[in-house]
Amino acid sequence: MKTLRIFTLFFASGFFFSGCVSDKLEVEEIPFEYYTQDELKLLQSKMNISEVPEDYISMVNSNASVNSPSNRKGILGRALFYDKNLSSDNSVSCASCHDQSKGFADDKAFSDGPENRKTTRNTLGLGVVRTFQHYYGTGGSSARFFWDERAQTLTDQTEETIQNPDEMGLKMDEVLEYVKNQQEYQILHKYAFPNRGMAKEHILDAIGVFINSISSSDSKFDLALNNSGSINSDMQGFTNVENIGREIFATNCNTCHGFSVAGAGFFGSSGFTTVANNGLEMDYEDLGVASFTGLKKDEGVFKVPGLRNVALTAPYMHDGRFATLEEVIDFYNNGIVQHPNLHDNLKTSSGLPKKLNITDSEKAALIAFLNTLTDDKMAQDVRWSDPFIN
Ligand code: HEC
Ligand code: HEC
Repeated sequence: MKTLRIFTLFFASGFFFSGCVSDKLEVEEIPFEYYTQDELKLLQSKMNISEVPEDYISMVNSNASVNSPSNRKGILGRALFYDKNLSSDNSVSCASCHDQSKGFADDKAFSDGPENRKTTRNTLGLGVVRTFQHYYGTGGSSARFFWDERAQTLTDQTEETIQNPDEMGLKMDEVLEYVKNQQEYQILHKYAFPNRGMAKEHILDAIGVFINSISSSDSKFDLALNNSGSINSDMQGFTNVENIGREIFATNCNTCHGFSVAGAGFFGSSGFTTVANNGLEMDYEDLGVASFTGLKKDEGVFKVPGLRNVALTAPYMHDGRFATLEEVIDFYNNGIVQHPNLHDNLKTSSGLPKKLNITDSEKAALIAFLNTLTDDKMAQDVRWSDPFIN
């Protein structure tokens, strides 16, 4: 990365001697241009934009250079994600509900949308999986978004969110009109979609690239996993207490939450559960998946949320009913109700709701384990932070 920066600066400053071109440079194929001085000046009057492009692409496509249009989409996407003008009363951006320091969730049961409206569900974190794109795929059957998994692609999800009156409340045409008229977006767009007129698809695409770049793989858990290779026996670098919690998690929680915790390539691509009823109550006010399929078997069935950075994303569950991890664990300990759709992983062999039956110190150990999933680097990484100066 460091070499890349130096060479990019080298070219950007206009010094170029053909005799200096090494094999390495030819392989990297860095275009000479970032932004012109005038463009950079204008951009920097509005936002913190670095002298060389931040990287939004290598974690998804290791061959793409930071100067490629695909990477520039991430830079455009970052600005859009943080722009409050994308809401009906200019008070809300994606980041108002998806706060980087809170695992890209917020701390409310129901979030504040524009015009004093509230969302009807708890905000899902975007830093809950190891790598967003690798977990969700690029679309089709593997990618499903929202608590009821009704959106099949990130583009559908983002379009729905922008137009939902409780979230941003603007028509895509209105967003396009606004973006088209801002000089900074004209510049960012030019590099992300060279020689193309601005279109709403570009806005959705750019936000998608930004979100897909979000990755969380620098937690204490990741380090231990890299050293130990498995979550099923004591992990190196963990305290005794964290290992006791790990054991409880591996036995009772991993069957559903494991894939998002350990990540692709670790558990294989099958054998994990993406949606389930976890027995929160008998009569669900929010029907979950059934709210769009209309099927009895889908009542009270919700997305199994990822648990990376879970210590940052309180309150919990689709309606934010639990304020703390202690409350969540008390629920799994002895609060699961016998809903007709209760998932088998939470039933005993005789079909009754499971009870963890753990002691207070074991509860504390389970929480200590969940705390190892917090990735402070992700929560602070400048690439995913608010670029705007005001
Ligand atoms: C007013 C709060 C609010 C705003 C603003 C908001 N979101 Fe969300 N977001 C939510 C809520 C609530 C959910 C869960 C909704 C549901 O399941 O029905 C959600 C879900 C999502 C998901 C699905 C995650 C998953 O794991 O399924 C993504 C992705 C997302 N939002 C991205 C965005 C983007 C991009 C923007 C800006 C264009 C945005 N959100 C703006 C509250 C918000
Ligand atoms: C049958 C699959 C299943 C098992 C096993 C399971 N969960 Fe869950 N978990 C879910 C589902 C589904 C939800 C969301 C339910 C809802 O909101 O209606 C959830 C939600 C959660 C949440 C809230 C996350 C958030 O962002 O709101 C936490 C924390 C959690 N589970 C922890 C655990 C722990 C700890 C265990 C083991 C003791 C466990 N789960 C076992 C399916 C499961």
